[in-house]
Amino acid sequence: MLTKTDISQLKFNVDELKNLIQNQNEIKKVVFILENLGKLPKNFNYDFLLELLSNKNEKIRYLAIKNIAKLENLELLNTLYNIAKVDESTNVRREAVSAIGRMRHKLIIKKLVDFLNDNDPKVIMQAIRGLLTFKDEIYVKENLKKLFNHPNEMIQQVLNKEFNEKEVNKSKYSHIESPDYMKNAVVLGDVLETLKYVQDDSIHLTFTSPPYYNARDYSIYQSYQEYLDFLEKVFKEVHRITKEGRFFILNTSPVIVQRMSRSHSSKRYPIPYDIHPLLIKMGWEFIDDIIWVKPEASVKNRNAGFLQHRKPLAYKPNPCSESIMVYRKKTDKLLDWNMKQYPEEIIEKSKIKGNYETSNIWKIDPTFDKTHSAVFPIELCNRVIKFYSFIGDLVFDPFGGSGTFGESALKSNRYFFLTEKDKFYFERIKEKLSNDFLFIDKKNKFIDLDEFKKLFHEELNDTNK
Ligand SMILES: C[S@@+](CC[C@H](N)C(=O)[O-])C[C@H]1O[C@@H](n2cnc3c(N)ncnc32)[C@H](O)[C@@H]1O
Repeated sequence: MLTKTDISQLKFNVDELKNLIQNQNEIKKVVFILENLGKLPKNFNYDFLLELLSNKNEKIRYLAIKNIAKLENLELLNTLYNIAKVDESTNVRREAVSAIGRMRHKLIIKKLVDFLNDNDPKVIMQAIRGLLTFKDEIYVKENLKKLFNHPNEMIQQVLNKEFNEKEVNKSKYSHIESPDYMKNAVVLGDVLETLKYVQDDSIHLTFTSPPYYNARDYSIYQSYQEYLDFLEKVFKEVHRITKEGRFFILNTSPVIVQRMSRSHSSKRYPIPYDIHPLLIKMGWEFIDDIIWVKPEASVKNRNAGFLQHRKPLAYKPNPCSESIMVYRKKTDKLLDWNMKQYPEEIIEKSKIKGNYETSNIWKIDPTFDKTHSAVFPIELCNRVIKFYSFIGDLVFDPFGGSGTFGESALKSNRYFFLTEKDKFYFERIKEKLSNDFLFIDKKNKFIDLDEFKKLFHEELNDTNK
């Protein structure tokens, strides 16, 4: 049996290697040899690799090209170009374009530009990769810029990163800082009105559970479309005020609107699924779907009818889960960039120590509040805060409710910012948070929209000084 060590020696005796491959009728073995050739010696006789380019097996052609690429031999430019043009396998074509890119010689430019019109976005991506070595050449730049409106999102993202990386830091604050007037503020007012007085790039994290469509008395809208339009406006604003590359976490679930009478049926609205495309369109990048699972005994039983008659089609599972949808403000920067903005000491203090939930199923009991009918369990907020923010960050809940997220923020050494339009719930937040002064530098403030506006203008004047 041939071992990896045998192969590493065989490459210095190409005739033997060639014989071995030619007399081999088991594809698996040829693949094994080609996969383990490793670095090729200088003056390696690659003829047998060229012969393999017309092999019937796609994997063998692909591996032959992978080995040819290691030679970075300009004499093979036309051969690779032809393969990249005509091979029936996209994997092989892509590898051939990548091999051309590795030559890093000006002669490859025209050939690679030719592939920018390919039908396969992966081939185009390889051509772009090769061309980026020469991105300062006008001819290359002009051709790459023609792809700015390419329908493929990965291509757009790569080009945007390369050519549009201007610093758009509208706020006077660095990534880790946030405006003082917003810190530990609860504003009594409509969220859209309130956010008119918040500058771009102000907050680090948003976690919210929006009013449910017609499910509770505080959420009466004329139509489902009107409800979605409202949320779209709010989440666009959240996007605007969120700092680069930071997170937005949305808790929703489908809601049921009860039937009018026994001769009508009830209707279930798939809120998470309808909001998702809107979020993507406005510039949030989907990151994760976490499922919050509650004990079955704690949710409404929908089984009464089915339990009796057991007839198909009428099955109604008890809804024990809610979606926790995780999004990030779209950016070309990696998460590493966000982390690097913080001093080592803050990173260290923010680390999640000990056991933590490793799966996307979060089993958490629901909480019942004396005044509010749909509150977050504090445990849910605690997890979101510790996984998605750093100590000292400013975290936001546009639909503050009873203020659970604010409470969790205080306990985790983050600043909070909440908006709530209902006076009754606003008072509940006040009651809940008034005693918490962990952040001695920022007293909690419970203010109305006019007071918030005033603070905003003071902040602006301060900024313009
Ligand atoms: C599902 S509850 C949030 C509960 C909250 N997560 C908690 O733990 O208590 C939604 C809240 O949004 C508030 N709300 C609805 N429309 C609003 C708006 N336009 N501006 C601000 N708050 C609003 C409602 O009054 C309600 O308290």
